[in-house]
Amino acid sequence: MKIAVAGAGYVGLVTAACLAELGNEVICVDIDEDKISSLNGGIIPIYEPGLEELAIRNKNRHRLAFSTDLRRAIKESDIVFICVGTPPKENGEADLSHVENVARTIAEVMDSYKVIVEKSTVPVETGDMVAKSIKAYNVHKADFDVVSNPEFLREGSAVSDFMHPDRIVIGSGSEKAVKIMQELYMPLNVPIIFTDIKSAEIIKHASNSFLAAKISFINAIANICELAGADVEKVAEGMGLDKRIGRHFLNAGIGYGGFCFPKDAEAFIRISEKLGYDFKLLKAVQETNFAQRKLFVRKIEKALWVVKGKAIGVLGLAFKPDTDDMRFAPSISIINDLQGEGAEIKAYDPKAMQKAKEVLKGVEYCSSPYDAAKDSDALVIVTEWNEFKEMDLKKIKSLMKHPLIVDGRNIYNPDLMKKEGFTYISIGRKDVV
Ligand code: UDX
Repeated sequence: MKIAVAGAGYVGLVTAACLAELGNEVICVDIDEDKISSLNGGIIPIYEPGLEELAIRNKNRHRLAFSTDLRRAIKESDIVFICVGTPPKENGEADLSHVENVARTIAEVMDSYKVIVEKSTVPVETGDMVAKSIKAYNVHKADFDVVSNPEFLREGSAVSDFMHPDRIVIGSGSEKAVKIMQELYMPLNVPIIFTDIKSAEIIKHASNSFLAAKISFINAIANICELAGADVEKVAEGMGLDKRIGRHFLNAGIGYGGFCFPKDAEAFIRISEKLGYDFKLLKAVQETNFAQRKLFVRKIEKALWVVKGKAIGVLGLAFKPDTDDMRFAPSISIINDLQGEGAEIKAYDPKAMQKAKEVLKGVEYCSSPYDAAKDSDALVIVTEWNEFKEMDLKKIKSLMKHPLIVDGRNIYNPDLMKKEGFTYISIGRKDVV
């Protein structure tokens, strides 16, 4: 099939490359000329495992093209995927101006039947608004259908999530569009749920909010475990064995970050409010999440006693491992708070340092975890990269001024840390002192 993908961000690039890999002819479009010329030169602007290889392979096979010409891409396609950004406005609502722009362009250009697929995360009723807007500006009076097909891609495993999803959600009121979408996704051979547009839109919001709630729930339990002298890792294991609960997304830590969960939860709170429902539960999920970072800073302060003038090595800056994404990364507020108290920060991240330099100033960026540990009064684990799990702890200890590790991701075994002679503070477990 011939496909236009509007937006060359995380979602757009992955969608375009994967749909090309499935044998379709795809044009991926963005208004950012620099980005498109880099993509045409084989440079992928984001770090996403497997994406570069997939994009280059399909570009060389002439199944994937990058362009700034949205009008041509729409004209030449059977399906148009809307994958443009929906960034948060000041009040937490999603800004839909990019989605509207694409809808208007589709309406002006389209001269034959098109399926318009909304893939960006949008508030419920956006699908209807897109349809209304296209109808209003439909210059050639062409036939079209709108489909909601939300993405559930995780950064760091987006390609594999696209190719092997747990489910595909297709929301549409048109049998013709459903058939086309079914055919498109047939090669993936995974469960597809068919529903109306609004339910599909809410499935996305409800899924992300539920996962965010799981994280805040286990973080709240971690705080109770600390007060009671219990071990949250064991508690999560015991809870997770119940099939109704499941072990995934029960890792206690410093709370969720990234471009999706904080933004989408905020947007869902606003959407519910507009519909007339006060989503107190989700508000508490967000509050618990942001409080968790502050609690972590308190732990560091308590362990150091006086923070001013102390050298703190920070391991991990990206909001999670296997990505270079710094958007809404907990590391930002944690480092800012510690700097505010007068700490000197030495930081290391395997992939995110370039992006971190744009948002975190006054930090000494190090070339390895050992470099960050050297002469530090404390080492703080913020992101659970595998590299940190495999460090030579004896070497780390010998390099540090004082063998103190404050671990926001519970990557080490407290008994081992005791044996190695560290003061080890983690989340929801007894301190090793
Ligand atoms: C998420 C959703 O998983 C994905 O379906 C959606 O389309 C986009 O948002 P992503 O933001 O890439 O994906 O990251 P994810 O792996 O879900 O992690 C989100 C945050 O939760 C990270 O900050 C992570 O560190 C944190 N997290 C996750 C925990 O603190 N504990 C956990 O148990 C799991």
